[in-house]
This record gives sequence, structure tokens and C-alpha cells, in this order.
Amino acid sequence: MNLQPVFTKIISTGSYLPAKILTNDDLSKIVDTSDEWIRTRSGIRARHIAADGEETSDLALIAAQRALEAAGLTATDIDLLVVATTTPDVIFPSTACIVQDKLGAKNAVAFDIQAVCSGFVYALSIVDKMVSTGGYKNALIIGAEIYSRILNWQDRTTCVLFGDGAGAVVLTRSDVPGILATKLYSDGSRRAILNVPGHVRNGVVYGDPHVHMDGPAVFKMAVNVMAEVCNETLAMANMTAADIDWLVPHQANTRIIDATGRKLGVAPEKTIVTVQGQGNTSAASIPLALDTAVRDGRIKSGDLVQTVGVGGGFTWGSALIRW
Ligand code: UT7
Repeated sequence: MNLQPVFTKIISTGSYLPAKILTNDDLSKIVDTSDEWIRTRSGIRARHIAADGEETSDLALIAAQRALEAAGLTATDIDLLVVATTTPDVIFPSTACIVQDKLGAKNAVAFDIQAVCSGFVYALSIVDKMVSTGGYKNALIIGAEIYSRILNWQDRTTCVLFGDGAGAVVLTRSDVPGILATKLYSDGSRRAILNVPGHVRNGVVYGDPHVHMDGPAVFKMAVNVMAEVCNETLAMANMTAADIDWLVPHQANTRIIDATGRKLGVAPEKTIVTVQGQGNTSAASIPLALDTAVRDGRIKSGDLVQTVGVGGGFTWGSALIRW
């Protein structure tokens, strides 16, 4: 019997942002807002917007191809493909199945995870179990979103905050530690503060199919739970915040990110922040931030990286990763 412990290790990253950039000044021509308000309340300066005809699976595909290239693997090496998204191409099939086909990952089991902005952390936790128990060898997790299509562009309280994009990681079975600990939470009783209430029934859309958010309530919730779940995840690995090399939080608002870092005791220089140029890309935000920091040389092999997500559901969670 093989008693060698098995771990799941992230071996590469990739990402894609659509070409079109929408600045705060552009937005101030559409709704009653200003660059000053958006920057001071959220830290956001610009966001990317998918082109007509560009689908979530197209964004995911390019991010995946870049991650595979960085890993030195081909699509047929992947046996598990998970897409975290709240903005799928269609109701079904899953965006993961569409990506599987476009990518040519014909050996992969493919499915979506819908946990809104926590989707990538949920995927890390699930894929870690599927790989480390020995069933799967090479996995691809992609966070991909086109929020621009579920925003009400007349609602200044939401449309200024979100953007489109995709980020991906390749993970492999390993005999050295990678994902060290994960912890997830859900609280459906808080679903009213962030949701898209619209739904299709008998071919008719009922309710508003746009993002609704009680910003201050979401802000408070995010600040309360993010540091807490980070500490719990650290404790599971017998570590403390002093051990963290890089904190990679969900990118919704620089004020939430700063507050989380302060509560946790992680210096701003150790926190990856990409929200300024991307807005909130929901499930794509953490893998986009990881790819940025890996490619610019900040995150290096051996570093301890803590990711933490929070979003609609309500859902939240953290993953502690030895890079
Ligand atoms: O991915 C997880 C989900 N998202 C988040 O984590 C976002 C969480 N929430 C937030 O980031 C912040 O609550 C916001 C950035 C959404 C808002 O910041 P805030 O400091 O909580 O502002 P507020 O909602 O309390 O609004 C303050 C004022 C209001 O006017 P009055 O009532 O004080 O006259 C709003 O009507 O700002 C007004 N306002 C705006 N003004 C200019 C709201 N949106 C805008 C806007 N431009 N775009």
C-alpha cells in the first residue's frame, strides 16, 4: 500500500482581460457619478468590458491556454476542469463543458461552481479534495465572468463597481505540500443583500435580471468575515498571519482589502491589489490577482499565499497555499 501523502499543488497561472477599457470618466457620462466618488469609495479607476459576441467561455479559454502554456502541459493532460462563474454562457450546458470542447480537453471531467465572488476559493477546496485523494492528476480551475451583462447601467450604486475577465490555475498531484488548508462558509439567510433576482420561467424573464446590492451591508459583512476565516484557515495549518508572504483577497474594494489586512495584521506591501484597473470581477478576481503577482515576480516558489473570497449567497472562504 502506498502511504506517501498526496497533495495538490498550483503549478501555473494564466489570465485574460477583454480589450475594451471603461474608465470612471466614461461612466460619468452614462450615470450621475464621478471619478472622484468611485476612486475614493472603491479604489476603482477602470474596468474591462467584453466585446459583443465574446462569451464567458471565450475569456475562460484564453486564460486556460495561458495557464497551460506556463505549466508546459497540453489540454489533453487535464483530467479535471472546473469553471467558477455566476455569468455562464447559457443556462446549460455548463460553461466548463463549453470550455472543455473549445480547449480540446477531451480527457477532463468538467463542471461549474456557482458561489458568486467566492467561487474560485470554493473550487480550490473541492479540487484539492478530488486531486489529493488520488482520483485526478492534473486539474484546471478557471474563474471567468462577464458581469457587464447583468448590470443595470442606469444604477450608479452597482454599475461602477464590476468588470469582466478570467483567471486560471493549473494544479497537479504532488508529494510536496501545495494547498495546506481551506475553509468555506455559506449563509443563505443573507441572500437579500446581494443578488440577481430575475429568473426565466416558461420562456419569460420574471423579476429584475440585474445585480442588486445593499453596498454598506455587504461592506460590513465582508470586513467582518474575511479576516476571521483567514485566521481559522491559518490555525488549521498551525500557522499565524506572521507566516503569510502574500495575501490575495477578493478584489471588490480597496477599503475592504485594507481593512482585512489591518484586522489580520498583514502589511499592505504583502497584499496583492488589482481592483484599481479591473473592478470587481467576481469569481475571476483572485486568479487574476494571482496571475498578476506570479508574472511580475512577487509570488515565488515556496511562498505562503493566502486567498480569501466573499460574495453573494452569502458565501465566503479562504485557502492557504504553499506556492
Ligand atoms: O464582491 C462582493 C460584493 N461587493 C462588495 O464587496 C462591495 C461592498 N460595498 C462597497 O464596496 C461599498 O459599500 C460601496 C463602494 C458600494 C459604496 O460605498 P459606501 O461608502 O458604502 O457608500 P454608500 O452606499 O453609503 O453611499 C454614499 C452616498 C449615497 O448618497 P447619500 O445617500 O449619502 O446622499 C449614495 O447615493 O453615495 C451615493 N452614491 C454615489 N454617488 C456617486 C452611490 N453610488 C454612487 C456613485 N456615484 N456611483
